[in-house]
Amino acid sequence: MTIESPTSGAPLDGEATTPAVPVLEARGVTKRFAGVTALDSVDFAVRPGESLALMGENGAGKSTLIKVLTGVYQPDDGELLLGGVPAKFARPLDARRNGVSTIYQEVNLIPLMSVAQNIFLGREPRNRFGLINFARMYADARGLLDVYGIDVDVRRPLRSLALGIQQMVALARSVSINARVVIMDEPTSSLEAREVETLFSVVSLLREQGIAIVYVSHRMDEIYRVAERVIVLRDGRVVHVGGLAELPRVELISLMLGRSVEKVTRGGTTAFGGSHASSAPPVLVADDLSRKHQIDGIDIQIRPGEVVGLGGLLGKIPGMKNINMARNLQKAMKGGGGFPGMPGMGMPGMGMPGMGFPGMGFPGMGAAPSGESLTKMKTLSDKERNAKKAQRKREKDARKKSRR
Ligand SMILES: Nc1ncnc2c1ncn2[C@@H]1O[C@H](COP(=O)(O)OP(=O)(O)O)[C@@H](O)[C@H]1O
Ligand SMILES: [Mg+2]
Repeated sequence: MTIESPTSGAPLDGEATTPAVPVLEARGVTKRFAGVTALDSVDFAVRPGESLALMGENGAGKSTLIKVLTGVYQPDDGELLLGGVPAKFARPLDARRNGVSTIYQEVNLIPLMSVAQNIFLGREPRNRFGLINFARMYADARGLLDVYGIDVDVRRPLRSLALGIQQMVALARSVSINARVVIMDEPTSSLEAREVETLFSVVSLLREQGIAIVYVSHRMDEIYRVAERVIVLRDGRVVHVGGLAELPRVELISLMLGRSVEKVTRGGTTAFGGSHASSAPPVLVADDLSRKHQIDGIDIQIRPGEVVGLGGLLGKIPGMKNINMARNLQKAMKGGGGFPGMPGMGMPGMGMPGMGFPGMGFPGMGAAPSGESLTKMKTLSDKERNAKKAQRKREKDARKKSRR
């Protein structure tokens, strides 16, 4: 007679298939904040080796659930179970020690320390004098990263690596601490395409080892590639649990939004409908916009009320400078671009094309630069006002001078 291990999902000979015991489970978990019920009797379960997507609109309760599962918050009601046994995580360290680890978008490691030190932080191999055995630490770190095909010099400071690789290091670290569940909250938001692929291959390796993955992302493509099951939260409640293979995207979106599939489809979410095109005259026209080595002969028209997406490749190509097409375009648009009569940008109805001053933009045009906070943001019209002020002062000084 064989004794089935509680984590094995394989059916025994002649017996009906028994689903594996969830490695981590929440039963009837409720979490309230002043005035808000962030989680309302949530049931959640993830099984060994499974990849589960956690979906929901902003404010649905995803982060709160993750924080309850990882000991950051205590539930007001309900309980957690680890491998079928009731568990309580008084703090994040308790969860981590029990094999529940999280990878956030921002890496919680120490940037100045080496890759190897970060992996073995707090449990470095030591020699008989109690000193860190660097040779062994480097070799162990190397061996660990090799498994995931991550090729970096483990002696290098973590911060000298691309963010994606830093995340992989964080992953390797949590796995080497006997992780049983790895929770990833929007892990790919700042990764380059190639790094996303590496992350996905790491995910499959983890699953092969029986580690469960909980994956939070807004990117539908990723969800369908990485996860096999989904839990959908809406207003703090579980509104759907099921396999992804049999769930069409529009249906998933309609579950998240709480609107019928017909409404979601009619709302234009799935297509650029003709109804989006405005027939009003454009407020901004770019004509044959160019910037040396960056953009070449681009035409754009923006009409009132329109949201125009500037899309482009982001990243490094061997032998080339960092490219960010959208940003180059943005720069060129801010920069005016030309002089009257020359190709450039202008506002129809305001006279001539290309009336902006290079680097100053146009009257009535504001910019919210990426990666900067609102407090640091300065509109182009502010800049322009300052430039004009400086110009007036120069003219005044010049007049003074000529009077003398
Ligand atoms: N620390 C907090 N204090 C008060 N309200 C909170 C707190 N954290 C989350 N909430 C509220 O709980 C709800 C769920 O939030 P959250 O879990 O962050 O959602 P999601 O991650 O799905 O966007 C939201 O209404 C949010 O405003
Ligand atoms: Mg969140």
